[in-house]
Amino acid sequence: MSNRIVINADLSKGTISRHIYGHFAEHLGRCIYGGIWVGEDSDIPNTNGIRNDVLEALKNLQIPNLRWPGGCFADEYHWKDGIGPRETRKRMVNTHWGGVVENNHFGTHEFMKLCELLETEPYVNGNVGSGTVQEMSEWVEYMTFDGESPMADLRRKNGQDKPWKLKYFGVGNENWGCGGNMRPEYYSDLYRRYQTYVRNYGDNKIYRIAGGPNIDDYKWTEVLMRESTRFMDGLSLHHYTLPDGWENKQPALGFDHTQWFNTMKSALYMDELITRHSAIMDQYDPKKRVGMIVDEWGTWFQVEPGTNPGFLYQQNSMRDALVAGITLNVFHDHCDRVHMANIAQTVNVLQSVILTEGEKMTVTPTYHVFEMYKAHQDAEALELTKQTPKYEMNGTSLEQISATASRGKDGRVNISLCNISHDQAAELTIELRGLADAEPHVQGRILHHDDLSAHNTVDAPNVVAPAELSGIQIENGILRITLPAASVAVLHVG
Ligand code: AHR
Repeated sequence: MSNRIVINADLSKGTISRHIYGHFAEHLGRCIYGGIWVGEDSDIPNTNGIRNDVLEALKNLQIPNLRWPGGCFADEYHWKDGIGPRETRKRMVNTHWGGVVENNHFGTHEFMKLCELLETEPYVNGNVGSGTVQEMSEWVEYMTFDGESPMADLRRKNGQDKPWKLKYFGVGNENWGCGGNMRPEYYSDLYRRYQTYVRNYGDNKIYRIAGGPNIDDYKWTEVLMRESTRFMDGLSLHHYTLPDGWENKQPALGFDHTQWFNTMKSALYMDELITRHSAIMDQYDPKKRVGMIVDEWGTWFQVEPGTNPGFLYQQNSMRDALVAGITLNVFHDHCDRVHMANIAQTVNVLQSVILTEGEKMTVTPTYHVFEMYKAHQDAEALELTKQTPKYEMNGTSLEQISATASRGKDGRVNISLCNISHDQAAELTIELRGLADAEPHVQGRILHHDDLSAHNTVDAPNVVAPAELSGIQIENGILRITLPAASVAVLHVG
């Protein structure tokens, strides 16, 4: 079968929220400590304790929002331990992640400073599992109240006169698991109670996100939507890409073709999950007011040999780049319901966009995909149909090409393409309908490496990097390109 794509450049199917390009930074391993926060006295160049190289790289991605402080960590985080003079902040054990000492040097003020420097929206995740309603309520008061009150006064005493703007707030995390092992009926009632005290102060309007299902727990979605739809703005969903399940995690590098294939299959499963959870949400929220917030997604492999198993530090290869590309394409396809997503996690943990070693850093193949896809942020998703050969292994068959298109505010059409086959190149014919100009300017970049395990390290940071896509032909609104096996490309037309 030939590879043929038709794009209707004048038919929008909704806006791709830029918040689909969100990130997640937990107090886990070397994500916050060492990866983002080094402290003001560090030899590593920093701004208010935040490392400059990481700041600069993240700024270049235009990340729209950042979720913090967890994850599982959120449901044992007590925010008052992380304010006031750093030297007197309480030390605690991070029981979920490596049993290491957490000195609370990175707290609310440091996080808000990070968001300010990145010009990104903070997404704060509150503690339901081991925290009280009062504690959650006071955190929101501390961050957002402008008048005279105990919490606003405490914030001022700690050096922040004006309240911060805070839009996104999560009421618990994975409350079916590390966030309290609750049943959906119980969590739903708790959610209703806790969110009541997540107040809107002044003109600060909070978008409340309820803790959603684990992967395919459709009953959880059913109960939450049935009982609590009117109290929420978003419902979260978590799905990690694992080639062989949770019990048999695979190495991040040096995988075989079957593991490659199974990784693509697991990533593409996101489409079925969103479709089925959305169908349940549609019953209770047909106008799609409530967003599906995929606030944890990405690959989960074995940790790198010799590293703390609780730190979840893994390398990031061309395979991760493909997972990022196809997952973002799935989110574009569901942009009517998926209003936000957060890759796990920003630095040094799981499918990171940045890896650091001491003062050195590198960006990963996943970073390059986020950078190449930037033009889709807040663009109009376009109708696209495709015929593509099957990519088959061991009796399972996937579509070889994943593709989406959007029209940006600048009028250009952006087309993102992933060839998920590990060994078959694809000759693509792309018909562009509804363009004013039949032979517009086309420019494209590609991320590809002949070695499927190719990756960047702090000492060899440019092994995987985008290059100009050569050989693009366009005539009478028909684009022709060849995509090598295992590649991600983005074209800009017009
Ligand atoms: O991202 C790592 C962990 O995965 C998060 O803390 C938790 O929410 C999920 O299980």
